[in-house]
Amino acid sequence: MARNECKVTADGFSALGFHMSHMRFRISKFGFRILSARWARGTASFLFIATTCLVAPAFAADAPTGVTNIFKPLSTPAQAIHEVSLLVLAICAGIFLVVAGLLTYTLLRFRQQPGDEGHEPPQVYGSNQIELAWTVIPIVVVFVLFLATARTIYDVQGAIPPANALNVTVIGHQWWWEIRYPDLGIVTANELHVPVSETSNRRPTFLKLESADVVHSFWVPQLAGKTDVIPNRQNQMWIEPTQAGTYVGNCAEYCGTQHAHMMLRVIVHTNEEFEKWVAEQKQSSANDPQARAGRDVFLATACINCHTIKGTQAMGTFGPDLTHLMSRETLGAGTVPNTAEKLRAWVRDPQTIKEGCNMPNMQLTDDELNQIVAYLFTLK
Ligand code: CUA
Repeated sequence: MARNECKVTADGFSALGFHMSHMRFRISKFGFRILSARWARGTASFLFIATTCLVAPAFAADAPTGVTNIFKPLSTPAQAIHEVSLLVLAICAGIFLVVAGLLTYTLLRFRQQPGDEGHEPPQVYGSNQIELAWTVIPIVVVFVLFLATARTIYDVQGAIPPANALNVTVIGHQWWWEIRYPDLGIVTANELHVPVSETSNRRPTFLKLESADVVHSFWVPQLAGKTDVIPNRQNQMWIEPTQAGTYVGNCAEYCGTQHAHMMLRVIVHTNEEFEKWVAEQKQSSANDPQARAGRDVFLATACINCHTIKGTQAMGTFGPDLTHLMSRETLGAGTVPNTAEKLRAWVRDPQTIKEGCNMPNMQLTDDELNQIVAYLFTLK
């Protein structure tokens, strides 16, 4: 044994023990201060979020907000999901308050006191009452949550389409939404137009969801829960908006480079407006003699392999239908507003606006570009 190595004597041992327990006490006091400060901040933010969540619904939504907010449902299935989510939040907030309350009480009431060193607190184990309580109460809570959730799922997924329901097929593509109305013979993109559903005249819209490539997810929070859009499979969902206006949503499943630019607009019309929109969309494309040159250039390039313009030989289905392009609010599935300037930039080189999208730079000359844009601008 080296000379300077510590020899542990009985005295030395107890001195060390005393020193360590004293240090532990000091650390625990200090740690407690940090912990309680952190805990207080955490609790404060949790309570703020929980209160916001629970109070937010009190401000009843009476118009679509243009913001994706699950706490402002304006459609039957979204309302059902909202109700069950409030129940879940309330139960969880209750559990949190009880657990955090007991924990706080214990931390404050049973802190180590001077003079506590050296003896353990009473050890409680093998208590049937306590073990039964913490087994049975959680089982009851889980059972209530399960029943409430199962009922909502059954109500939402088991809904039977009424005779006047609107049927729409939505096909997810990288990175846009194809929207087909099989009963009306309309094909459009990225903007789902539907009629409003009134108490006296309920008109829900039933959606069939398909994918042309990878898994996407259809989600318009104010209208319904999200549903995955899966290749080689047809999923179903429905919406029943009760207020006219524009609702926004987006693809909710990562689907590649431009997943973030795969936005959705659901435009809910009054019944008359919807009939008007349908009549306009059913028409063939405009054939303005002024835009003749642009039309010729368009039909002579590879544009027609991917795009359809009703009434011309352009019948491609790989990209969005352009028959009524200018009736849409955005380009590139919500990437930029559909203005003359953005449309020109898009046709010149879509990659500068939506990098990685499947439309290539067509290497058009300035003249061709101007002519094509002038033609597309007539497609109202
Ligand atoms: Cu489509 Cu993400």
